[in-house]
Formats: sequence, C-alpha cells, structure tokens
Amino acid sequence: MSSTVRALRLAPSLLSADFADLAGAIRAAEEGGADAFHLDVMDGHFVPNLSFGPDLVRAVRARTRLPLDVHLMIERPARYAPAFAKAGGTTLVFHLESADEPGEVVRVVRDLGVEVGAALKPGTPFDRVQPLLDRIDQVLVMSVEPGFSGQRFLPAVLSKVRAARSGLDAIGSRADISIDGGVTSETAPAAARAGASFFVCGNSVFVGGTVGDNLRALRRAVTEGSTS
Ligand code: DX5
Ligand code: ZN
Repeated sequence: MSSTVRALRLAPSLLSADFADLAGAIRAAEEGGADAFHLDVMDGHFVPNLSFGPDLVRAVRARTRLPLDVHLMIERPARYAPAFAKAGGTTLVFHLESADEPGEVVRVVRDLGVEVGAALKPGTPFDRVQPLLDRIDQVLVMSVEPGFSGQRFLPAVLSKVRAARSGLDAIGSRADISIDGGVTSETAPAAARAGASFFVCGNSVFVGGTVGDNLRALRRAVTEGSTS
C-alpha cells in the first residue's frame, strides 16, 4: 500500500434501490453515512440492459447534495455528456471500450466543468487508461461484467487496481480508484488493500438488512482493508 492517506468513500448504487421509493433510499443512505451516489446509465447497446437517463439524475440531484457519480455504460458518451452534466452529475465516468478517442471524451467532459472518470471492463488491460492518468479524476475498475447488479466480485481485477494505484502515485495524482461490482464487506477489504478509494455498493447496501447497518459494516470493512 502507498503511504498517502486518502479518504475512503462509499457510493451506494441506486440501481439496487427501490425505484418506486428513490427518495427514501437516498435519505436512508445519507443517514447511514454515504459519501456519494453512483448512478448506472445503460443504453441497451454497450450493455445488454436499459436503466435510466438524465431525467433521473436530475431528480436525484434535487434530493441530495452529495456528489453524483454517473457511470455511463453507453455508446457515444461524448454525445450525451452535456445532458448528464446539465442534469447535475458531479463526475461523468465513460467506458474506454466505448470511445475511439478517449482523450477527446476527456476533453469534452472537462470543458463541461465537471469531473471525468474512465472505466475499464474486467477484460480491459490497465494500459488502455495509462495515457489518460494525468488528466482524469477517477479510474473505475469494474469487478463484474457491466450491465447488472448482484453479480459476484472477480478478484482477478485486483492486479489492475494495484497497477492503477502505482500509476497514479507515480505522477502524484490524487484521482480516485473506484471499484464497482460485487463489493461487499467480504470483498471490500482486499480492494482497499490494493488501493481502491471509492467503493460502489449496490446490493450490499440496498438488498437485505437495513441500509444504515449495511453501510456501517462496509465502512468497517474498507477501513480494515486500508490499514492492514
Ligand atoms: C453494474 C453496475 C454496478 C452495479 C453494482 O453494471 O455498474 O454499479 O449497480 O451493483 P452490485 O454492488 O450489486 O454488484
Ligand atoms: Zn456502476
């Protein structure tokens, strides 16, 4: 682990919440100590599922002041970025596999005045993001195949988290490393140990138990991982 002390943040993924009571889910997560919300945008092309668009981001923005981490699992991210920035997204995270010219997407998102992140599917190597490290705010390492919540964590991606941590530390970047997919109290410590700083948690927050208890258990797990 690097010696840099960094904040570890928990970002409940609203994809796992009850869509008919999103306001209740947001309130419970805020009261339980969430640091941000993660919003999964799916277009039925880049991933085989559909979720929601900018209108839902806007509705969530109206209910919370926490940062909104918008995960764009869509083709042509640059085309839709303005709508998500306008809707109140704090960070727009696009997939490297969906962009022919990732540097151009980064420029477009930055020009909108919001933060930018680059996401890698489990099979996409670290090399693909390396050239962008000096100009992004987040590297999102997917620990499941994108498209659905409630899948099992793929531990093989931890080596990519370690590579991203060394790459960012080497250039003095304070960018976050986000880990997304199958993050639970059991899997989070290893991700924290590998250098992740931003933990996207869907089912482990919203399915089973209470949101507050679930978040407290996750908080203990990431803290334990980062100090071991
Ligand atoms: C999957 C999404 C994830 C998902 C995580 O495509 O990117 O953000 O909501 O859900 P869990 O934590 O249940 O795997
Ligand atoms: Zn996601």
